[in-house]
Amino acid sequence: MSRSSSPVFTQRNEGDSGRFYISEVSEFSYYLPSDETERERLNLQSQLFYELFDNRYILPPISFKEGDIILDSGTGSGHWLSSVAKHVPETVQLRGIDISSRIFPPPSLTPPNVTFKTGSITSLPKEWNNYISFIHQRLLIGSLQEHHWKKSLSEMYRVLVPGGWVQLQEPNWTLTSPSQMIRDHTAYALKNELCRKRLTVWDIVKHLASWLEQAGFVNVELVEKIRLPLGSWGGERGRFGLKNILELFRGFKKPIMDGGGLGLVGGGGAFDAMLNDLKAQCEATPETYYKYSVFIGQKPYSS
Ligand SMILES: C[S@@+](CC[C@H](N)C(=O)[O-])C[C@H]1O[C@@H](n2cnc3c(N)ncnc32)[C@H](O)[C@@H]1O
Repeated sequence: MSRSSSPVFTQRNEGDSGRFYISEVSEFSYYLPSDETERERLNLQSQLFYELFDNRYILPPISFKEGDIILDSGTGSGHWLSSVAKHVPETVQLRGIDISSRIFPPPSLTPPNVTFKTGSITSLPKEWNNYISFIHQRLLIGSLQEHHWKKSLSEMYRVLVPGGWVQLQEPNWTLTSPSQMIRDHTAYALKNELCRKRLTVWDIVKHLASWLEQAGFVNVELVEKIRLPLGSWGGERGRFGLKNILELFRGFKKPIMDGGGLGLVGGGGAFDAMLNDLKAQCEATPETYYKYSVFIGQKPYSS
């Protein structure tokens, strides 16, 4: 990782903001918070993705019939699942699974055919063999180590019905920008360093297609690359895009500070200054984007 053109941030630590991290109370190394601020961020981000996908939620060629089951793997606030429920027949069942139930939507806001369950996607329920028609999974980059990815892909394969599909969306590992300062920005270097420290796979989009094939999936394809503009120069979407990424990076603050700044940032105050710098630079640099890749794969009809 190049640090040559990144500004140096060395202000005093101002402490963290008392956010809740599942990694502090469980064996999971997931490094983002699970709290109301994160729920709001995930809901907004989910809405932004929907617009970036031209109002499509499900990209593989699949249509649903009565009794089919859709799984949202690592569902978080369940925004994707609750939104999809409005677009499929009421006879389709939708399940969300996550290690934390803290930001599941309240029952009063949950459609009757949607249910949420706590559990790890590396160990799906034993009774789910050949059970699910479609699995959606988005943004697990901050949680899964290589062996977790491989285990969760094989679990997906096990629980899918023959002919069932997966759809996986993860971010690329650099910001796209005409500005070298932004491409090498400390914020992104910190995110990647945090991934490396927790042994999660920072360049996951490079691996997903081959790991899907190793798990047995066919018709594996990178179907979509989307770009979220970061800055008011991108209109309302750009304003929300930048707000989203700044909030995302704020979520990394505590684990980064707990790790002594990972050798890249001097303290809490310096971290805040670094984010203000990222914000100013993105606002001043049109064509700066956060990119995501979406892969699909199908369980063969016969193995
Ligand atoms: C960045 S959030 C994304 C949430 C949702 N997929 C979305 O796109 O809005 C990642 C989610 O994965 C969950 N998670 C992390 N590790 C997990 C695991 N091993 N099994 C199930 N869920 C996990 C976290 O609790 C968190 O809710």
